[in-house]
Amino acid sequence: MSKEDLFNSMTPETMRSRPGLKWGRDPSPYIPLFIAAPDFPIAPEIKSALIDAVQREDLYYNTDTGTREAMAEKVARFNGVEATADDIMVIQGVDPSIWLAANYVCQPGDEIVVTDPSYGPFTEVVPKVGAKPVVWELDLDEGYRFDVEGLKELVTDRTKLINLCNPHNPCGRVLTREELKGIADVAVDNGIVVISDELWEDVIFDGREHVSIASLNPEIERLTVTSWGVSKTFGVAGLQLGYLCTKDEEMMAGFKGLARLIQRGSSTLAKAVAPMMLGEEMDWWRKGLKEHLHKIRAICEKRLDEMPRVTYPKLQGTYAMFPRFDYGKSSKELADYLREEAKIGLSNGAGYGKRGEGHLRMIVATSEAIMTEVLDRMESALKKLD
Ligand SMILES: Cc1ncc(COP(=O)(O)O)c(C=O)c1O
Repeated sequence: MSKEDLFNSMTPETMRSRPGLKWGRDPSPYIPLFIAAPDFPIAPEIKSALIDAVQREDLYYNTDTGTREAMAEKVARFNGVEATADDIMVIQGVDPSIWLAANYVCQPGDEIVVTDPSYGPFTEVVPKVGAKPVVWELDLDEGYRFDVEGLKELVTDRTKLINLCNPHNPCGRVLTREELKGIADVAVDNGIVVISDELWEDVIFDGREHVSIASLNPEIERLTVTSWGVSKTFGVAGLQLGYLCTKDEEMMAGFKGLARLIQRGSSTLAKAVAPMMLGEEMDWWRKGLKEHLHKIRAICEKRLDEMPRVTYPKLQGTYAMFPRFDYGKSSKELADYLREEAKIGLSNGAGYGKRGEGHLRMIVATSEAIMTEVLDRMESALKKLD
């Protein structure tokens, strides 16, 4: 199969023939679009490197120094943050960085800024550390703009952490340099730490640039914990590989203290593939992924535009579309209805916060044929509600 065809190659049958939660849960003709994992094959380079590591029996106790060096090189080259291996911690995906930042930074009674809508763990972590959420509302009708003046009004002397997601799941926003500068100024002026989840950095549209907030100036660099992973770009969530960067040595020591005994660097299999995945060798994959997703986005937009009571934010980044359905039904009712009537599985938008009510989240990283089938089924099911 040519490299161009890879991203368009999957069928429900081929996806079901592979083990995995997304396609493994429900039988045919159900089509799942709820887990944020792509329907693509695994890149040949990743498979070979994993097989090679097993052949070499690289499964003993090991060190993650080489992995962290490769990560630091990528963070300096791609994210514009001059990191060394000591500034990097290997973690099991991005979620642990959200937990580490909140636990290190916050005391009971402190406040954490969380957007609404928001990726679930950002909200979930707040009560776990006895903190209070400061809800920063994002509005679809304003294009999910990050209103920095609004943020300034929310911040108090108890605000210790800003939970930032860029590109933003589920709003599909890629934050502009101006928005990020505004957030950075608020953080620096008030000594607030920022946790910046940049897991979706490779999935951006229309030639936009991904800007890491930590790269803006030395003051915000010192206040920021940035985390990344490989699950969204390469569809390898099963490797459970993420990494964070902080240039604040005390914060890194604090994270290590918190993580000790529950976290032991990366697995040797993750180590075998991380440098290659983060290097320029896999840029062909990133390019192909983006090209394919532009086609899928165009298909979705054309079809959703033909559905009269559906509004959606134009995807700037991520492959999670977040349309709003004005059918007088709650997100849960609508998700249940589409599941029964159309046999398609979308996530309940209310799970992303109050402002997600009325929305469903739809993962569109799939083949053109699967996407078209989903939209056909959705359209006929919605027509029955008219
Ligand atoms: C914004 C965001 N952060 C973190 C995660 C978790 O990713 P991982 O499984 O790589 O930790 C997801 C998964 O969908 C996500 O969308």
